[in-house]
Amino acid sequence: MERYFCRIEKLEEIDSTNSYLLTSEFESKTVVYSFHQTAGRGRLNRSWKNFPSKNLALSVGIRDLTVNPLWLTAGISLALIDTLAVYSLSGAWIKWPNDVYIENRKIAGVLTESQWKEGRIDKSVVGIGVNLNPAKTELERDIPGRQTTSLFCETKENININNFVRIFLDNIVNYLQLIDRSQIVILREKWMNRSEIIGKNAELSRGSGVIYGKVTGIDEEGFLYFDDGTKTFRVVSGDLKVITKFED
Ligand code: BTN
Repeated sequence: MERYFCRIEKLEEIDSTNSYLLTSEFESKTVVYSFHQTAGRGRLNRSWKNFPSKNLALSVGIRDLTVNPLWLTAGISLALIDTLAVYSLSGAWIKWPNDVYIENRKIAGVLTESQWKEGRIDKSVVGIGVNLNPAKTELERDIPGRQTTSLFCETKENININNFVRIFLDNIVNYLQLIDRSQIVILREKWMNRSEIIGKNAELSRGSGVIYGKVTGIDEEGFLYFDDGTKTFRVVSGDLKVITKFED
């Protein structure tokens, strides 16, 4: 793992590991992580809660990516799922595109951001926030009204975050190598298998409003096929809520 990444930097405290990378001239395959991220950002302008010394915020910076950055989201989510399995949590699933769940409880979120230069992607940063040691009471207090969980809540064991990072980074390498080798077909297959939304009825919120339909697949670029009953179209971004699996 050390040989794959060009730099792995642990920061005692940082506003946002994604912002840190995006505002610096990093070399490709740079990792930055912290257990104390004070202004974590989520998708759709949401914030990501800080539980000092209890959560992991980790970002990987890639230069000159030649595939859809969504594959970075897929890779890091799948790497997390493999890591959770090491802690005997085998049922994690991905809510396209960026959330990792245990049953109906969110354990992690991914934010992938890219900067373009002269018509190509210059910097891509994939960042993940993982709830590791917060207790149920802390999650309920700080993220009210949402079904969330942590690895501690699921296993009832205190997680050594440094060990977790080591295992997680090894797993991240496995998926980044699939991208390096252009083995997107394998990545797509694994992403589909772990995205329990395929074949489910769902509610899709986009800037233009809410539509109901069925998720029918993920295409070769990482976008979602959504069938609203009259036609199938590709979904590039949006907020998805499965309506048959869980009511939340
Ligand atoms: C979401 O659920 O909307 C995505 C949350 C992403 C949070 C991570 S924590 C590491 C990285 N740095 C950030 O500011 N955000 C991401």
